[in-house]
Amino acid sequence: MKLIDYGVREDERPYIEEWSKENNVEVKIVSDLLNPETIEQAKGFDGVVAYQQLPYEPGIFDKMNEFGIHVLSLRNVGVDNVPFDALKKNDIKLTNVPSYSPTAIAEYSVTGLMILLRSMKSMIRKVDQHNFLWAPDIGRELNELTVGVAGTGRIGQAAIKIYQGFGAKVIAFDKYHNDNIEKQGLYVDTLDQLLKESDVVTLHLPSLGKGNTVINKDSIAGMKDGAIVVNTGRGDLINTQDLYDAVVSEKLSGAVLDVYENEVGIFNSDRSGEVLQDKLLSDMIHNPKIIVSPHIAFYTTTAVKNMATISLDSMVDELNNGKSDNEIDLN
Ligand code: COI
Repeated sequence: MKLIDYGVREDERPYIEEWSKENNVEVKIVSDLLNPETIEQAKGFDGVVAYQQLPYEPGIFDKMNEFGIHVLSLRNVGVDNVPFDALKKNDIKLTNVPSYSPTAIAEYSVTGLMILLRSMKSMIRKVDQHNFLWAPDIGRELNELTVGVAGTGRIGQAAIKIYQGFGAKVIAFDKYHNDNIEKQGLYVDTLDQLLKESDVVTLHLPSLGKGNTVINKDSIAGMKDGAIVVNTGRGDLINTQDLYDAVVSEKLSGAVLDVYENEVGIFNSDRSGEVLQDKLLSDMIHNPKIIVSPHIAFYTTTAVKNMATISLDSMVDELNNGKSDNEIDLN
C-alpha cells in the first residue's frame, strides 16, 4: 500500500513518519496543497490524505478517478470545503477525523474568555509600555456568569465540563440532545432563549452554510446587554461586521474570535509588517475588547498527532476492509 499525504506542515511530519514506520506503509509527504495540478503527484498511489482550508476543486476528483484512487482521508473534522457531488460522481469515499481532541478546543474557549474577562489584551499592551496602572482594566469573574453553550457534540460537552469547573451556570442548546446534558437539565428549548439568557455564548456548531449565521444584527438584539460571544467553531456562523458594530456600540462587551468568515489565505500566514487589506480584521485586532487568534484552538501536540495518525488509520481501514468508522455519509 502506498499513500500520499498533502499539505503537510513541519509540525505534522514526525507523527506521519513515525506512523509510516510502525505500520510499515509507505507515505509520501508533500507540503503542496491539493489542487488539480498537484494531484498529478498521486499517480501510482492507493490513497490520498490531505488537509487544507482552501476549497477542494472538483478537478482533483476527476484525476483521482482516472488514477484509480477512490479514497480521500482528511486530517481534520470540517468537510465544508469538499464538494460532495464531485466525490460521488467519481465514486470516491471521504473520511475525516471527527474527534482529534475536543478538549483542545474546549480549553481554548475558556482561555480566550478569561483573557477577555481579565482585560489581558490591554493589560499586556500596557505593561509592554511600562504602564503598570490597574485601572481601567478591572476584571469580571466567570463563576458569576451564565455561559450558553451552542452545540453539544463532543467539543460542546467538553466545554460544559470546563465551564462548570469554573463555577459558571451553564445552559445549552442543540437540535440533537445528548443524554448526559439532558440528565443535568441544561437544555433550553431554542437558540433564541440561549442567546437571551446567557452572559457568554460559546459556539460549538459546524458551519450552517454561507449566509446562515447564528450571530447577526437581529439575534444580537435579543442578547443580554454586555454579553460576550466566543467562536472557536466556524467563522461563517457570525456576521462579523454586525458583531463588531455591537461591540463598538457597547451592546456587547466583547468577543473572542478564533475563526473568522474571511480567514482563508490569511490565518496561518506571516503578514508581519504588512498593512492588512481587510479593514474589519484590522479594526478587530486593534480593539481591546476583541480577542482575535488565527484558528489555533485545535493546535496542540495531542490534536496534531491524532489528526496525522487517525486519518492514516482510516485510510488503511478503507483500503483493507472497504469501510472505516470515520467515513462520511455523502448523501
Ligand atoms: C477542523 O478540524 O476542521 C478545524 O477547524 C481545525 C483545522 C484548522 C485544522
